Amino acid sequence: MTTPARDIILESTGLVKHFGGRGLLSSPTVVRAVDGVSLAVERGETFAIVGESGCGKSTLGRLLLRLIEPTAGDVRYEGRSIIGLAPDEMRKLRREMQIIFQDPYASLNPRMNVRDIVGEPIWLHGLARGRDKQERVADLLRTVGLIPSHGDRYPHEFSGGQRQRIGIARALAGEPKLIIGDEPVSALDVSIQAQIINLLEDLKDRFGLTLVIIAHDLAVIRHMSDRVAVMYLGEIVELSDTNALFDDPLHPYTRALLTAIPVPNPTDRQPKPLLQGDVPSPAAPPSGCRFHTRCPHAQALCREAHPELEVASEGRQVACHFWREIRNAGAGALTAPVPSPALTQRLALYRTWRERQDSTGTPTA
Ligand SMILES: Nc1ncnc2c1ncn2[C@@H]1O[C@H](COP(=O)(O)OP(=O)(O)O)[C@@H](O)[C@H]1O
Ligand code: SF4
Ligand SMILES: [Mg+2]
Repeated sequence: MTTPARDIILESTGLVKHFGGRGLLSSPTVVRAVDGVSLAVERGETFAIVGESGCGKSTLGRLLLRLIEPTAGDVRYEGRSIIGLAPDEMRKLRREMQIIFQDPYASLNPRMNVRDIVGEPIWLHGLARGRDKQERVADLLRTVGLIPSHGDRYPHEFSGGQRQRIGIARALAGEPKLIIGDEPVSALDVSIQAQIINLLEDLKDRFGLTLVIIAHDLAVIRHMSDRVAVMYLGEIVELSDTNALFDDPLHPYTRALLTAIPVPNPTDRQPKPLLQGDVPSPAAPPSGCRFHTRCPHAQALCREAHPELEVASEGRQVACHFWREIRNAGAGALTAPVPSPALTQRLALYRTWRERQDSTGTPTA
């Protein structure tokens, strides 16, 4: 039996973004924000990009929409390279590829009322005029849980969650096929985060959208995403189906990110987070495996040789020299304790909690 061909809507190959600059004593520095990212997003899925702050997620999101130009590599949207497209062709495509930002306030023009903010893409792309346009705006406001009379007000009159709804209505106005959410809920209270996540999921089903969600926190994407790319210092270190990633994380960085998810029972003793220290500067990334300076399993080889992404199983890729040994835990060749008791305890607590959530159908917090 042959596997059906994947319907890829967005694809990057060897995508690189280096920012130039001047360091101390005016020596030239190169910030390797994104360093060779290849990924493929399937039509209709929710694809998450996760990693700590400074790992290059926003830069990657902007590259995927060609809001910034890559240093190298390619981006294909519906099979066609968008790098090098003429401005008017790119403008037509922009209607189909939208972005929503972490800080809705900064991305909404404070001097425009909500009707104009949401109506602008409709006008720009010539989708409707006059009364039709006003009706479309009213519909969009209802779709995102606001009311048409909100159209008369200005962004500062709304709460953070409402402002994100306005940003989403604006993104929907051009009738997109793909929306990239760059930390769309990170600035919101936890209860509001759940509402916005639910809204995005509803809209995805209703309009057949493809979502790419960028987050620094695995907890945010665990129930909404189909697949996850974990990023560290400009590179993808693990790419996996979401359930497999949570049940059996392969890369030490993914494991460390998982320990950062709070277990929702305050009486449980919280194991010490595995991730300590900051992400090193992308202007001087560590040699070999970029994670070696923080990895509890690092060996001499890790400082010398860069691990490439390799297929671990169907649909799973990981970039670590020792993922098999770490997973098998019996790892005679490794000197570091594998896996740490803290991680074992954390994963067991997390699984119990998730099973409880799944069986009671409690919505994501
Ligand atoms: N325009 C820019 N000029 C120089 N450096 C930049 C620019 N944009 C981002 N960077 C740097 O690139 C790295 C990745 O940033 P970013 O993509 O914003 O990461 P994330 O979204 O994961 O926090 C950071 O070190 C950041 O300072
Ligand atoms: S290659 Fe080495 S340093 Fe990098 S994640 Fe794997 S064990 Fe850790
Ligand atoms: Mg960012």
